[in-house]
Amino acid sequence: MNRKYRKTVIAGNWKMNILPSEVKPYAEILKAAAGRVKFCDVVICAPAVVIPAAVKAFKDTRISIGAQDVSEHDAGAYTGEVSAAQLKDAGAKYVIIGHSECREYHGETDRAVNGKVKVALETGLTPIVCVGETLWQHEAGASLDLVRAQVKSALYGIPAEKARKLILAYEPIWAIGTGMTATPAHAQEICSQMRAVLREMYGARIARAITIQYGGSMNPGNAAELLAQPDIDGGLIGGASLDAEKFLAIIQAANQ
Ligand code: 13P
Repeated sequence: MNRKYRKTVIAGNWKMNILPSEVKPYAEILKAAAGRVKFCDVVICAPAVVIPAAVKAFKDTRISIGAQDVSEHDAGAYTGEVSAAQLKDAGAKYVIIGHSECREYHGETDRAVNGKVKVALETGLTPIVCVGETLWQHEAGASLDLVRAQVKSALYGIPAEKARKLILAYEPIWAIGTGMTATPAHAQEICSQMRAVLREMYGARIARAITIQYGGSMNPGNAAELLAQPDIDGGLIGGASLDAEKFLAIIQAANQ
């Protein structure tokens, strides 16, 4: 594992799960084992309305709270949207941007993803920028080109000193929630190409410092092997993060 240059970040994406009232018992389990977690940063990305409960439950721990989406606008007449400033004021430190579910169900474009990344960085939130191909694109052998293009568009116009603060996540859509985890070799190949794009855009020093996560059916059984790949610096975990014990087991795999 290449842990010299960059942080390992294990992030849970609760998606549209967990009630505000359910956060406390979950937090108790994680907090009890928090002392054993030394070598990675841990983030929980909660639904916007659950963020205050999560911030309260994980206060004074090393576990940070993130959001799952953000408006690309600063403020104003955007009914239903949540601004970066509001998320930050509520205590969020991270925000997922460009998740395939937002791209698919909310019609989020590459251009919108780029706008959201800029707003998040301006506001001081750490974006977790998701990219990934569909099964059809995967089978057509188009994964690499697609992911390279997504990374380039998401980071378009973002200067190096800002880019070094963000996280990228490779989430093949065919692996999300399906149990069909990407092989460590495939995930490594794509993540190394994502780092190659960073190198082309920002040079070797910045590319080496940016955390790249893998997401898609990561679980306690496959986490260690995925996280052992040289260009995989963490995980973005959906289903398995809903169970505090399973999430903890993944965190522990990152600490080996
Ligand atoms: P699963 O871990 O449930 O496959 O979800 C991955 C994901 O979409 C995280 O953002």
